[in-house]
Amino acid sequence: MTDQVNDPVQEVEATREAFEREFERFARFTTAAADVSSLKDAEAELRSLADLRVRHAGKKSAITAAKKLIGRVPGEQRASFGQLVQKTEAHITDSLDAAELALKTFIETARIARETIDVTIPGRRPRPAHLHPITLMRQRIEDIFVSLGYAVEDDREIETDFYNFDALNIPEGHPARDPQDTFYTTQGFALRSQTSTVQIHAMQRRGAPVRMIAPGRVFRRDTPDPTHNPMFFQVEGLCVDRGITMAHLKGTLAEFVHRLFGPDTKTRFRPSYFPFTEPSAEVDYSCFQCGGEGCRICKWSGWIELGGSGMVHPNVLRAANVDPEEFTGFAFGLGIDRTCARIYELDDIRLLFENDLRFLEQFR
Ligand code: FA5
Repeated sequence: MTDQVNDPVQEVEATREAFEREFERFARFTTAAADVSSLKDAEAELRSLADLRVRHAGKKSAITAAKKLIGRVPGEQRASFGQLVQKTEAHITDSLDAAELALKTFIETARIARETIDVTIPGRRPRPAHLHPITLMRQRIEDIFVSLGYAVEDDREIETDFYNFDALNIPEGHPARDPQDTFYTTQGFALRSQTSTVQIHAMQRRGAPVRMIAPGRVFRRDTPDPTHNPMFFQVEGLCVDRGITMAHLKGTLAEFVHRLFGPDTKTRFRPSYFPFTEPSAEVDYSCFQCGGEGCRICKWSGWIELGGSGMVHPNVLRAANVDPEEFTGFAFGLGIDRTCARIYELDDIRLLFENDLRFLEQFR
């Protein structure tokens, strides 16, 4: 405002109109119901309102300048001009105060609404984790052997030719390498094709006597089908001591199947061949479903294959620095996946590795 005042009344009216134009948009908060989505907007508007107060009611505002004019208008107009200025100033500050209060109330209500927890909303059901059926099977097998005095060994999955073949009496060129062909790395290492490798490690580590089982992953170049996977689980068993005979092997595996499938389960040993055992046998158990009568599970034979077994070959004991003149032992190797499939009546072991939760959640 300058000293060049033509019509101070008009000036004050113009001041009021300028304020009204800018103030208009704040009025909505005096009537609006607080909602969380407008909270940010309201917080910004509160800051703009403070600016507006500085410009229209502050020391350098037009209305403050108009107050200084009161003494300079002619005497007969002074009183009414003074009242106009006062009224206009009161209108501006009252409007600002009311808008500020409304905005603050709006913000507070919206903040409370944002922080409110609606206890009636149904909760998100937690999905508790559970063990994979192969792990459950492995644990059942471990529990039985631990109770029979066996230690549980965990060992490497990547092996040298020595542990996977040579030390197990399968020298280079031996035909037994073929069905156990595996996956090789470029540095002469291979993924183990059977848990029998742990026989050697365990004897080298512990010497004799030794009694251990070794569950774990093995790998073979097998084409996937309902009973084969290129990666599967085995559990190896090894018992070496003075005077161990085939009778101990038969008694141990008979006890194992009794505990796993029930006390009426029978075992049968069929002559077989493994380079690392002599003599060797395939072990079968009578079908837990039909008790040997013949059914879909045992493919109408009454028997189900458990795995391979035999008396540890003297060459294997020697490879692990155990004296075959002093010690004898038995070993066995069972397929965990196929046993798991039998117990849970799965007709395809590949289901175990598809990671389909609809399938896996059935095994709690
Ligand atoms: C062996 O692997 C011997 N190491 C077992 C053994 C140990 C014999 C100690 C003597 C002394 P075999 O190749 O038969 O044997 O395999 C053992 C079990 O692994 C089979 O009975 C079967 O249950 C499982 N198995 C073999 N190949 C596969 C495969 N591709 N997918 C799933 N399970 C398999």
